[in-house]
Amino acid sequence: MKVKKVNYIILSILLINFIHCNYAGNKSGLHWFLDMHDSLAIEYQEEDPTTMLLSYKNEKMKGADNIESLTGPGSSLRVPPEGTVPRNYTPYLYDPNDFNTPAKELVNPLKPTKQVLERGQKQYNIYCAVCHGYQGHGDGPVSPRFPNIPALAGKNSNVLNWEDGRFFHIITVGRARMKPYAAQILPEDRWAIIHYIRLLQKNSQ
Ligand code: HEC
Repeated sequence: MKVKKVNYIILSILLINFIHCNYAGNKSGLHWFLDMHDSLAIEYQEEDPTTMLLSYKNEKMKGADNIESLTGPGSSLRVPPEGTVPRNYTPYLYDPNDFNTPAKELVNPLKPTKQVLERGQKQYNIYCAVCHGYQGHGDGPVSPRFPNIPALAGKNSNVLNWEDGRFFHIITVGRARMKPYAAQILPEDRWAIIHYIRLLQKNSQ
């Protein structure tokens, strides 16, 4: 059989390629094109020198990808795109000034079991009692210096008729001098606190 010259050339190229195949699989052999080997991508929480450079120039801190840096010079963290939601997080979409819609729509998912009430008491004593008082009378330890704290229980309280959802809303978004507690108190614990406030109200009638 007559073998053409060009076939020899193809055969030798294939052979050269096979030489670089490693039977043990631990070495990747010779690399001809390195373009894809050294990725410019920055690993999570790694330093990003491109945001550093721009900060020297006093420009708005954007990385090489033209996205703003979330935490300043040298940081690889980026401002998340609009509408980004963390995993396992349900966004709270009610308007902070609208108390009526959440009051109507939100329902306490917990039953006031002993366990729930104990959890509510613990959380209430940590986050609410300092102002609203341990019995909910608006007379917590800070009350003389932080005047006019409303009572949540007892005859002077305006919130005896409040729906659970209305309580949930004020704990979540705050109102006037009362700050929001969404960052500190898990939604489930907010509902537990509400059950505990109901207990305080019942006990102080
Ligand atoms: C730093 C003090 C402070 C803390 C802590 C605090 N509150 Fe308040 N709370 C206030 C003040 C002040 C108001 C009145 C807000 C206003 O003027 O609108 C208020 C209002 C309220 C009201 C409405 C009362 C009304 O009569 O209209 C509720 C309900 C309430 N708080 C529940 C809570 C719960 C539950 C917690 C714990 C998760 C909590 N608060 C923690 C200070 C506090």
